[in-house]
Amino acid sequence: MMINRVGRVKTGIFGLDELLGGGYCPNTVNIVLGSAGVGKTIFALQFLLKGLENNEKGIFVSFDMDEKRIIDLALSMGWDEVEDYLDKGKLLVGSNFHVEDIVYLNSDLLDFILSNASNGDVRIVVDSFTPLIASLSFEMRKDVNWFFSKLRDAGTSVVTLEEPLDGNLNNPSITVPVFLGDSVIHLENIGYGEAFNRTLKIIKHRGSWHAEGIFPYRILKGLGIVVEGSSYIAEIKTKVDLDEVLGGIDRSKIDRSILKKLEKLAEEDVPIPKEELIEIIKRVIECS
Ligand SMILES: Nc1ncnc2c1ncn2[C@@H]1O[C@H](COP(=O)(O)OP(=O)(O)O)[C@@H](O)[C@H]1O
Ligand SMILES: [Mg+2]
Repeated sequence: MMINRVGRVKTGIFGLDELLGGGYCPNTVNIVLGSAGVGKTIFALQFLLKGLENNEKGIFVSFDMDEKRIIDLALSMGWDEVEDYLDKGKLLVGSNFHVEDIVYLNSDLLDFILSNASNGDVRIVVDSFTPLIASLSFEMRKDVNWFFSKLRDAGTSVVTLEEPLDGNLNNPSITVPVFLGDSVIHLENIGYGEAFNRTLKIIKHRGSWHAEGIFPYRILKGLGIVVEGSSYIAEIKTKVDLDEVLGGIDRSKIDRSILKKLEKLAEEDVPIPKEELIEIIKRVIECS
């Protein structure tokens, strides 16, 4: 059995679901943070395409890209089916919103999203959220929480954020959505060249296990974003056989609350090497 696989929303990014414990949790707002050129828009499109392939609806909201630029990017990636999805109305692009016009988040923008997200099987992208939040007054930032809760009701969202080129992440336009998002993935172009040129790190994933490391990724025509390293996570996954780990220890001799915690631990595969896991369990029992 894999970790928490049931009910997850597959991201469509190759190699990422394994690092998220099966994918995104349904009805969540998921942040993708990175500077220009790291592949945020490609990530967002790939996420939408995965849903469209499963007959889900897709909504793409952008303040700086119109439909033509989205099609151009899709075509450059070899994803010509995007045009078909647009023609059939399965993929909707909201690009007639202008940041200057948005003073409150409960505007036409939200109406557009909610009116097109009639059932729960919809994927929503806001690419990017940065011009919108930057245009809001400090007072309005508390509305981000409310806006995200509306997005959660509507479906599963990917919201991208522009990382400033100087790498300063302490700006409220980054910290507020990062704090309020259900998951945060940081894409970086660190410029080491080739294998480790582009890296992905999962900063948080509420209510789920996630991989801790820094994982290299590539952008490839046709496939899109491909994250490496997830096979390692699959290999080290350990099934906890509590009887085996406890050896000869009588369960009745173990503190009851500790035993309950260990039984919960044994319900699912644990993504650490077996020897380490046995050491951890031994120490937990010794300390109880
Ligand atoms: N056909 C392609 N093949 C490989 N890489 C591509 C292709 N098209 C774009 N890219 C890469 O994707 C990057 C842009 O991705 P994009 O999603 O627009 O970035 P962001 O939205 O983060 O600014 C480009 O800088 C380029 O490195
Ligand atoms: Mg972009």
